[in-house]
Amino acid sequence: MSDRANTLITETLKRIHQVIVEHDVTYEEYQAAKQWFIDVGEAGEWPLFGDVYIEHAVEEQAFGNREGSRGTILGPFHLPDAPMLQAPFELPHRSDETGDRTQVSGRVTDADGKPLADANLDIWQADAEGRYSGFMPGPPEGNLRGQVRTDADGRYEFTTVIPGPYTIPLDGPTGKMTAAADWSPWRPAHIHLIVGADGYEPLVTQLFIATSDYLDDDVASAVKPELIVHPKATGDGEMAFTYDFALTPARTPAVA
Ligand code: BEZ
Ligand code: FE
Repeated sequence: MSDRANTLITETLKRIHQVIVEHDVTYEEYQAAKQWFIDVGEAGEWPLFGDVYIEHAVEEQAFGNREGSRGTILGPFHLPDAPMLQAPFELPHRSDETGDRTQVSGRVTDADGKPLADANLDIWQADAEGRYSGFMPGPPEGNLRGQVRTDADGRYEFTTVIPGPYTIPLDGPTGKMTAAADWSPWRPAHIHLIVGADGYEPLVTQLFIATSDYLDDDVASAVKPELIVHPKATGDGEMAFTYDFALTPARTPAVA
């Protein structure tokens, strides 16, 4: 076993043992916890559980001190190979898609403000009822997922709808654990993006809608003040907001 694995496993178990001693954990509670571990596996919810309750700490540890724009968690609902959108850059949606139509635009630059041409923005979001295509019943495959590229001035734009907030699944073991602890299961409304450019560290982030409920009580602890956006009515029945992304140089890969 590597020193690293030895240290992490030893320290994790030590902390679990401390909780058992400090809170006088009983055999009944231990058996209930064991059954819950089994249930999470059988429900296929380990990725969900990790992304709700652990990923935010890893993200902050990895990127909290980085220059440039704030990142936040990836979550479990990204799908690769979303279509590259052509002008007028509208995320694929149903003809009767509900939710306020919104124009999103801005620039991608380096940390000194130099525009990055041909940067890629991979975008995915829930619909106005908080449902992700490919994971939840309702929206068709590929709904509200797409990629756009920046122009020579680093500018990008796309049109979408304001997503709705949503709960993590309430009937599975992660939701049941959340209810048992009396925590809110909601995530506030947000749009996910991965912003990438050659030679730069990909920025995994989310933009949170300022008018959404649950900004102060995100079950996944992923909201950061710098990531809250304020869509404004444009006067022609649509909304709009801008957001600029600043990327930092790619990290040198660690030598194995
Ligand atoms: C999300 O952002 O979609 C998400 C993140 C963590 C857990 C569940 C969903
Ligand atoms: Fe999400």
